[in-house]
Amino acid sequence: MQVIILSSAHDVAVYAADRVVDVINTKKNPVLGLATGSTPIALYEELVARHHSRQVSFRQTVSFNLDEYIGIADSHEQSYRTFMNQHLFNAIDIMPTNTHVPLAQSKEVAVLKKSAQDYEASIQQAGGIDLQILGIGLNGHIGFNEPTSSFASRTRIKTLSESTVAANKRFFKAGEYQPELALTMGIGTILDSRAVLLMATGKAKAEAVKAMIEGPISAMCPASALQLHEAATIVLDEEAASLLALKEYYQWCELKRQQLHEGSLI
Ligand code: GLP
Repeated sequence: MQVIILSSAHDVAVYAADRVVDVINTKKNPVLGLATGSTPIALYEELVARHHSRQVSFRQTVSFNLDEYIGIADSHEQSYRTFMNQHLFNAIDIMPTNTHVPLAQSKEVAVLKKSAQDYEASIQQAGGIDLQILGIGLNGHIGFNEPTSSFASRTRIKTLSESTVAANKRFFKAGEYQPELALTMGIGTILDSRAVLLMATGKAKAEAVKAMIEGPISAMCPASALQLHEAATIVLDEEAASLLALKEYYQWCELKRQQLHEGSLI
């Protein structure tokens, strides 16, 4: 894993935006995997700003989001479709038909299962994901792949854990229905992406970050599956990196990587 430790959450967003723009500018038909949650909001703000200053166009970009709640309408204030429209899609020139968020409004299992299969097929048809953006849950989840999710899992219906329901409660009004199920890309789906970039900021994520990078590969920490990916970058602020045992080593590696890039290794 490439572990990058930066001084602030803003720097994390700028780094992630550079990676996204690089994919868009170097691929003919770029395919992005996108994430929701509070962490990538700063990335989306940065991308919108770059689009407004004409540094990047999303005209040719296709996107696939990681997950969606089951049982609430697309138009619901808290749906991930609404989140993406508000924070990114409505503010850039991506073609709405090129944006994909799992379709999960149905309450019928057969419809949801078909939707999950179709989602996998659409990713394949688009040529696979070039860069998958990820956040991490307090319990180490990626997408909505909760602890003990199979590393071979594909897009499917997933029951949310108690800790995830509790963590996301803040977004729902008192007394409002809060989903306990989601349709999520599987860990296998995520591992198929050509590159992954996981962003984590703030002290609350430090334990999960340590387990992901330095813990054993274990279904108890779904993000530890990224240790098996050959092109996984983990970009952290100082707080999220604060519990890492090999922090100085990762910083040393980055220095060496830069020297290598500039052609002066020794
Ligand atoms: C949600 C999403 C994840 C996200 C996680 C962390 O449950 N399904 O994709 O990474 O929350 O969110 P936050 O960035 O708000 O901490």
